[in-house]
This record gives sequence, structure tokens and C-alpha cells, in this order.
Amino acid sequence: MSVLARERTMKITKIKEHIGAEVTGIDLREPIDEATRKRLYDAAVDNVALVIRDQQFTAAQYQAAAELFGELMEDQNRRYLVDGLPLVSVLDNRHKDSKGQQAKVGKNATWHTDHTNQERPPKFTMLYPVALPDHGGGTSVCNMRDAYEALPEDIKKRITDMKTANTLISSARFKISNPDVLNDQMEAKAPPTIQPLVRTHPDRGTKAIWFHNSKTENILGMEAEETQEFLDKLLETAIKPEFTYVHEYRLGDMLIVDNRSAMHKAGFDYDHSQHRKLYRILVRGDRPY
Ligand SMILES: [Fe+2]
Repeated sequence: MSVLARERTMKITKIKEHIGAEVTGIDLREPIDEATRKRLYDAAVDNVALVIRDQQFTAAQYQAAAELFGELMEDQNRRYLVDGLPLVSVLDNRHKDSKGQQAKVGKNATWHTDHTNQERPPKFTMLYPVALPDHGGGTSVCNMRDAYEALPEDIKKRITDMKTANTLISSARFKISNPDVLNDQMEAKAPPTIQPLVRTHPDRGTKAIWFHNSKTENILGMEAEETQEFLDKLLETAIKPEFTYVHEYRLGDMLIVDNRSAMHKAGFDYDHSQHRKLYRILVRGDRPY
């Protein structure tokens, strides 16, 4: 085998016991066979967070690579998209809001999973950096499948059949949000979407704690405020360092999070005078159960 051919051999290495794997030796601008595609898909599912290193994508090439993992879906925030590529959204700390002010891009970000107010939230969230601060600004991902399994039995029993009512932004979180998002919420007439608090992975049958506290209006049978307290406490109990991986980006990283087993959180521990910009793609999921 030539040196070049050896370097091209895909390698998948676990990052931590409970979460994370790194892929090297593959260039997703080139076609891959079905067996390789399946290995990548399974690695994302089994490890919850998968980092494919050393990619050199344009936004269009990134979209094509993302399509290997399923049908893409639109981001519900239509404000910041790559020109001509409506399925690639942009997370940028230099975004301006509709009034031309520096947009507040969730500096109060908390653990969540994406788009729970939609009937079919994304199975995967993918992130690809195009500008990075020198330090920090990583994405934290927690394996909520193992976090659920590690809960005391009485808590497991209590939460297993709970349901959440989801809206674009919950009334309890109105005060921390950006005015454009508030407008969207005021205009949104959709009734809340009911989701399981503990969902089952459709490919594996495993269970995971799964919610977005800024989108959870309430747990059915519980008041809004009590719900927020309950969810905060649940996270405090469930999220442990051993289940969590903080991905500190390098240029060229394609991060894939299996939302059906994960909750994630953006990191704001960086110098905000420096530019941080990522392309985000969502892969459509099934109806959670
Ligand atoms: Fe998110």
C-alpha cells in the first residue's frame, strides 16, 4: 500500500468512554461507498457526537456531505442563511438583528436539543466552523442516554411517561430572548407540540432525556414555573462530566450530534471581539416517541 493510500484509510477513534469519536483519513468531497457511509452513520449514533476532521468544504460541499446522513430540513430561524443554500444556516457572533444592532445570540444558552416545537425535530445537528476565536467557543454535548440510565430508579420511573408542551419560546424564558425571536413567537399561532420528555431512539430502542427548556412551556400536569425548576434540577442530577464532551473546534471539523441521544450547549467562553462563525445543517428526524 502506498503512503498516500494508507493516509486515505478511514479511522474512527473513540474520544471518551461514554461519548465522542473522531474520524480521520476521509475526504467527504469525494464519493464514498455504502459501507463507509453506514460506518459513519453508526459511529454518530453509537458515540452520540462524531467529529470528522480535516474537511475542506465550501458551503455546498458541506451540504452534500450532510446529505449522506439523511434528508435535510430547514432551520426555523430563516434570518441567517448562506446565500443560495437555504438548508445551510449561519451562526455568527457578528450577526445584526433587524434593527441593525449586534444580535444577542443566546449568551444565556443552556442545555437543549433543537427544534422541539416541531413535530419532526432534526435527528442530527451538524456544525462546521468557518471562523474561530483563538480559545473557547466550543460546543458541549451530553450523552443523555447514559445519563438517563444512570439516574436513580425512582427518578427514572417518575419521568418516563412525562410529556412536554413545546413552543418556539416558552413564556418563562421570554425575558432572556432576542426581540426578533420574541416577535416570531408572538406571531406564531401554532398550538404547542407535545413531545416525550424521555424519548426512544428509533434505530436502537434506547431511551434518553430529551428537551429544550426554552421551548418547554410546561410538562403536562405541571405549571410553567414549576416545570422550569423541575427541568433545571433534572439536568443537575443527570448531566455528569463523564457523559459530556466539550468539542473545541479546529477548522476542518464537521461535528455531528445525534439529537435523539443528546442535549447540547453552545460555549460563550471566548473573546467576543474575535470572530466565531459556523455553518449549521439539520437532518430531518422522525416523530419522537
Ligand atoms: Fe442547538
